Amino acid sequence: MKTRYTLALTLSAAAVLSAAGYGWLKPAMAQQTEDWKPVWTEDGQLQLPTGYREWVYLGSPLTPNALNGGAAGFPEYHNVYVHPYVYAIYKETKVFPEGTILLKELQLTLEAEEEDGSRFEVSGRGFFPGPFNGIDIAVKDSSRFADSQNWGYFNFGHHAPPYAETAAAAPIEACASCHIDNADEDMVFTRFYAILGAD
Ligand code: HEC
Repeated sequence: MKTRYTLALTLSAAAVLSAAGYGWLKPAMAQQTEDWKPVWTEDGQLQLPTGYREWVYLGSPLTPNALNGGAAGFPEYHNVYVHPYVYAIYKETKVFPEGTILLKELQLTLEAEEEDGSRFEVSGRGFFPGPFNGIDIAVKDSSRFADSQNWGYFNFGHHAPPYAETAAAAPIEACASCHIDNADEDMVFTRFYAILGAD
C-alpha cells in the first residue's frame, strides 16, 4: 500500500514538474526524439552533429608520437562518443541500429617535457589531455554505404575547432577499407570500448 502511494505521488510530482517545463526532465524525453539521427544536406554531405560531448563516452585510444617514430598519424587521444539513444539500443540488442553515428574527437596531449612525450603532473608522469584537434565520424546507413559494409566515413578537419559544418563521405580506400580488414564487429573496434560489453 505504502509503495503504491509513494509511486502515485512520484508520478504526479513528475507530471507537475514536466508541465512546468523543468529542464532536468528533458534528457529522458530527448531519447524519444529524432536528434540522434544523421542529418544530410541535399548533395549528400553529413552535417556535424551538435551536443556530442554530452553523448555517452566510449573510450580514448591513444597513439602518441613518441611511440610511432615521432610522427603518429593521429597523436591525440581519440575520444569516441555515441548518442545515448543508440547506446541504449546497442546495450539491449548488441547491434548498432541504422543511423548510428560514432563520433571520434581528437584531443592533443599537453606539451611534452620528456623525449617520450610525457610530462609531470602532481598525479605522476604521463600523458594528459589538452586542446581539441579534429573530428572523424562513422555512420551506419545500408542504403547509402552498401559498398563499404553499410558504414560511411567522414572527416570534419584535423585541426583546432571550429570544425567543418558538413563533410562528404571519404573514399573507401581512405577509411572504410582499414575498418573492413581490421575491426571487431560490424566495422567498429568494440574491443577498445569496455562500456559496450559491461553489465
Ligand atoms: C589504418 C587503419 C584505419 C584507417 C585508414 C582509418 N581508421 Fe578509423 N579506426 C581505426 C582504429 C584501429 C580505430 C580504433 C582505435 C583507435 O582509434 O586508435 C578506429 C576508430 C575509428 C572511429 C571510432 C569508432 C570505431 O570504429 O572504433 C571512427 C569514427 C573512425 N575510426 C573514423 C575513421 C575515418 C573517418 C577514417 C578516414 C578519414 C578512418 N577512421 C580511417 C583504424 C583506421
